[in-house]
Amino acid sequence: MKMLNKTLTIGLILSLLSLHVLAQIPRIVEKDGRHALLVDGKPFFILGGQAHNSSGWPGMMPELFSAVKTMHLNTVEIPIYWEQVEAKPGKFNFSLVDTLLAQARAHQVRLVILWFGTWKNGSNHYMPEWMKREAAKYPNITGSKGQAIDSPSPIAKTTLEADIKAFTQVMHHLKQADPQHTVIMVQVENEAGAWGSVRDYSPAAQKLFQAAVPPQLLQPEVLNSLNVPVVASGTWQQVFGDRADEYFQAWYVASFIGKVAAAGKAEYPLPMYVNCALREPFSNPTADTYESGGPTDNVIPIWKAAAPVIDLLAPDIYLQGSKKILKVIELYDRPNNALFVPEAALSFANAKYLYEVIGRGGIGFSPFGIDANVPEGQPAETSERLAPFSRDYVVIAPMIRVLSEWAFEGKIKTAIEREDHAEQTIDVGTWKAVVSFGSTRANADQVNREPNGKIMIVQLDTNKFILIGSLCHITFQPARQHTGSAWQYLKVEEGNYENGIFKPLRILNGDETDFGGPRFGAGPIVLQAELITR
Ligand code: DGJ
Repeated sequence: MKMLNKTLTIGLILSLLSLHVLAQIPRIVEKDGRHALLVDGKPFFILGGQAHNSSGWPGMMPELFSAVKTMHLNTVEIPIYWEQVEAKPGKFNFSLVDTLLAQARAHQVRLVILWFGTWKNGSNHYMPEWMKREAAKYPNITGSKGQAIDSPSPIAKTTLEADIKAFTQVMHHLKQADPQHTVIMVQVENEAGAWGSVRDYSPAAQKLFQAAVPPQLLQPEVLNSLNVPVVASGTWQQVFGDRADEYFQAWYVASFIGKVAAAGKAEYPLPMYVNCALREPFSNPTADTYESGGPTDNVIPIWKAAAPVIDLLAPDIYLQGSKKILKVIELYDRPNNALFVPEAALSFANAKYLYEVIGRGGIGFSPFGIDANVPEGQPAETSERLAPFSRDYVVIAPMIRVLSEWAFEGKIKTAIEREDHAEQTIDVGTWKAVVSFGSTRANADQVNREPNGKIMIVQLDTNKFILIGSLCHITFQPARQHTGSAWQYLKVEEGNYENGIFKPLRILNGDETDFGGPRFGAGPIVLQAELITR
């Protein structure tokens, strides 16, 4: 009897422990259209960096983690490879996953694992050799003229089953090996879809294309959001007209990945996302000009209907120019889609979008290629190469938890410099914040050479703000009932955050705050400013 009681007590403790682990599992929450990724139960904004594609090997760790340290990031995005995890059919090897977990813990960062499975940039290049050798069993798609396309078929059950089996093992292993949630999110596949053909035209695909559109896609809210007339039934061509080929491909790619993700989540329900090779966001181009079938902005409703288990669809930002990039950010920031930028070019021009994503209540941002493999014309020296983001990360990282909470609460507004360098006025309650772009008092009228200025304005109280930024000036004007009143700074302090508390370094006054200031130089700083009307 005593023995039985002891066994029951141990069993109870174990299940409570496992419940606790599951209760603290990272998850995404939404409030008033903003999102937070909860890690250890609290909002956690990913200050990320993605490794190069072939950097998930033990020999690459020193270089990678030296970049991690230089950059002050809190999360590394790193691939794991199907061809390595299951080099022999049914024989799984997680030694590289374990290496990544150990390295990340030793360097006190979290991981986003990228599952390079069936799709990598639209191709099957990370499939195990034993699959590549059996092309008939694990087929690629066929082009409209019968030509071979270097892209796996989204309708091949054999491939789907094999991917489900492998990914399930990955998630099973993570559940066992990572009770402390070093891994906070998983990317399922990489830039799925097809280059070189809008869809699969194989005989099997043709049969499906001539069949009826699945009922989930015929829901009025889905058809409305696709700007398609609501109908009760029809073939792909009948319902979707000239976008039928692309929508067909999107449906089957999304359904495939949704099933892989669902099987993985059944093992261990970490947040999961799918990244996207974008299309030009303004001109509604045809799908032969971009990767067809991936979650481009025009097919987001199809992805949501086909793969509801996927937490979010994420834009990889390699476009240029603030108009296009801000449009893309807007398109992927939806109440049902947390904003996360898993890849962006590692450039000074892109650091300002980190501010935009924080200000919108997004969950993370990550430039691509933080370890070497230096592109032509870029500095070989690590700290110089990483400076576009490390300059901001070093300032933001110590306060990221409190910043994530403010972002989720909607307390942050941002101003991002556009190519015309135009001044911006931001409404912050009974004040208007006027932001102009340039950083020297002597040349106060001189704008920045490149449009890289940015600022985050956190409203702590009616008259109290935290200001973080670079390459800009900010000044205030009393607004609403105080419009026209005289005003001044009561106190402006430069400092930093430690454990959620502002630690002042000095009080700024005189040249540092007069003449339309304070102003922010090339290196971002954190200010706490209190204002009064008089
Ligand atoms: C986007 C892909 O998702 C990445 O894996 C990588 O191939 C980059 N492009 C290359 O710049």
